[in-house]
Amino acid sequence: MKSVQSNIKKAKKYLDKKHCIAVPTETVYGLAGNAYSDNSVKKIYRLKKRPMNNPLIVHYLNMNRLKDDCHINDHFIKLYKKFCPGPITFILKLKKKSRISKFITNKKKTVAVRFPKHLLLRRLLKDLDYPLAAPSANISTRLSAVMPSDVLEEFGLNIEYILDGGKCKIGIESTIINLINKPTVLRLGGLDVSKIEKVLNKKVLIKTNSKIKIAPGQLPLHYSPGVPLRMNAKKPKKNEAYLLINNRKINLKNYFYLSKNRNLKQVAKNLYSLLRKVKNKGYKMIAVEKIPNFGIGKTINDRLKKASNF
Ligand code: TXA
Ligand code: MG
Repeated sequence: MKSVQSNIKKAKKYLDKKHCIAVPTETVYGLAGNAYSDNSVKKIYRLKKRPMNNPLIVHYLNMNRLKDDCHINDHFIKLYKKFCPGPITFILKLKKKSRISKFITNKKKTVAVRFPKHLLLRRLLKDLDYPLAAPSANISTRLSAVMPSDVLEEFGLNIEYILDGGKCKIGIESTIINLINKPTVLRLGGLDVSKIEKVLNKKVLIKTNSKIKIAPGQLPLHYSPGVPLRMNAKKPKKNEAYLLINNRKINLKNYFYLSKNRNLKQVAKNLYSLLRKVKNKGYKMIAVEKIPNFGIGKTINDRLKKASNF
């Protein structure tokens, strides 16, 4: 317990000094900095090698703190009450008096906000007097990090501190919904769209491949393990790593399990770490067994499709 407290204190110290650090969330690790500081935010872009016109998500403890920065609406309140803290990001209208750095929003009048569930990060947010800007803690276009060792692999010594919160429970990024006009999902994620529709009591639009490329999650190559990947593979080709979701009678040395019993939550949780693992083992090609396209399976297929545009 004592070490948890001292780690949070250390994390706060770095952030107060305008450094960026890695923080755990329930989805993936974030590369975090003070959202009210231009310098902190510019460091995030630099470290991540992210184009400056690609806006960041701001992480808050709760709605009270958010009210300084954003206009909220009925749809937001309904979804907030049901799902927050949790794996959903909202696009809202920025308030004129907001102190959010203009580099986060690419000078737009909208901002992406989210309320992470990981207890360690919540304790840290409670101690800060600013929200945290945090994209996923990986170099642009690569796989997100779901463990401290992944963050190290991405940034090496360039990252000054990693708040260790273990392996991320969900393992795949948040669902992004634009609530400014008609509710529109911009990125599939850890929260199932059908659950959102149930709460809003209506169908929501899904524009994950919008022609206006505002979100890089919408760009063709993203979430890439750095080697070619093939989806819906019935069997592996020579030298391919084969990722499976069902136990096999025969286990070959190139077989790797995302799950042994078609548990899609488990598949999501293991996806990025297994892709990293097989890449690091030296495989030059990856084949993935067909993933059922429902629930979080849709998000998994979305990520695999983007990773397969190599
Ligand atoms: O689960 C997550 O959402 C993780 C954790 C760390 O919170 N974060 C994450 O951030 O995935 P990032 O930067 O990798 O992806 C955020 C996406 C980007 O595709 C960005 O373009 C989009 O959100 N975005 C940010 N602000 C936006 C805005 N105002 N309008 C539309 N899209 C926006
Ligand atoms: Mg990302």
